[in-house]
Amino acid sequence: MVLCAKHLKKSYIDSDQTITVLTDASLEVAPGDFICITGKSGSGKSTMLHIMGLLDSPDEGELWIGDKLVNSHSSDAPKIRNQELGFVFQFHYLIEDLNATENVALPLLIAGESEIEARARAKELLVHLGLAERLNRFPNQLSGGEQQRVSLARALVNKPKLVLADEPTGNLDPIYSSEVWNMMKSLNQELNQAFVIVTHDAEAASKADLVYDLVDGALIRN
Ligand SMILES: Nc1ncnc2c1ncn2[C@@H]1O[C@H](COP(=O)(O)OP(=O)(O)OP(=O)(O)O)[C@@H](O)[C@H]1O
Ligand SMILES: [Mg+2]
Repeated sequence: MVLCAKHLKKSYIDSDQTITVLTDASLEVAPGDFICITGKSGSGKSTMLHIMGLLDSPDEGELWIGDKLVNSHSSDAPKIRNQELGFVFQFHYLIEDLNATENVALPLLIAGESEIEARARAKELLVHLGLAERLNRFPNQLSGGEQQRVSLARALVNKPKLVLADEPTGNLDPIYSSEVWNMMKSLNQELNQAFVIVTHDAEAASKADLVYDLVDGALIRN
């Protein structure tokens, strides 16, 4: 298994109220899985993804990444986030002062790669994602779809075991949205790259091998 979440529970305390978000959420991700999570706004999809990505910790339950039992406080969490997981969010969160190649090279530099090697691998991946003509552009010189493809390259550059994406096309026009979905699907097929994607888009979710609905704090397989 790439990732195994077992019986996760999570509540937030908001002033005097307790908001129970996850009651008994479990998910297994095997190598090469292309999984979508859908659910109503506020049902806890982002919470689930953040816990899986070691950006937040559950109150109860277990999260296994590979053979390690971990949470966001684990001493090796930063290394796992950098080397075993890739993230794509609704907003690209690219660094405006860095061009496309530099943005994609950054996780490699953090992992200790040399600058020459990091740039070479970033360029190779951007070319693979159809951005050969955009290598030196800054984020504000790219279309929304191109920005999200650069984000996808940044998520993939360390060859993660799993890419976690939270509404990766939520901010895009339909034409760019299908471009990004097609790209994720082909990376899944070509490289056996595992994805877990939170989406509101039922049509896009139909590309998934497995779809789960987040209802009443639990993941129900469709
Ligand atoms: N840090 C927090 N403090 C208090 N409440 C929170 C916090 N984060 C999320 N919540 C609440 O938890 C619930 C689940 O939020 P979450 O962001 O996981 O939903 P979501 O399914 O991703 O929704 P959307 O589809 O709108 O993105 C919501 O009611 C939200 O208001
Ligand atoms: Mg959300």
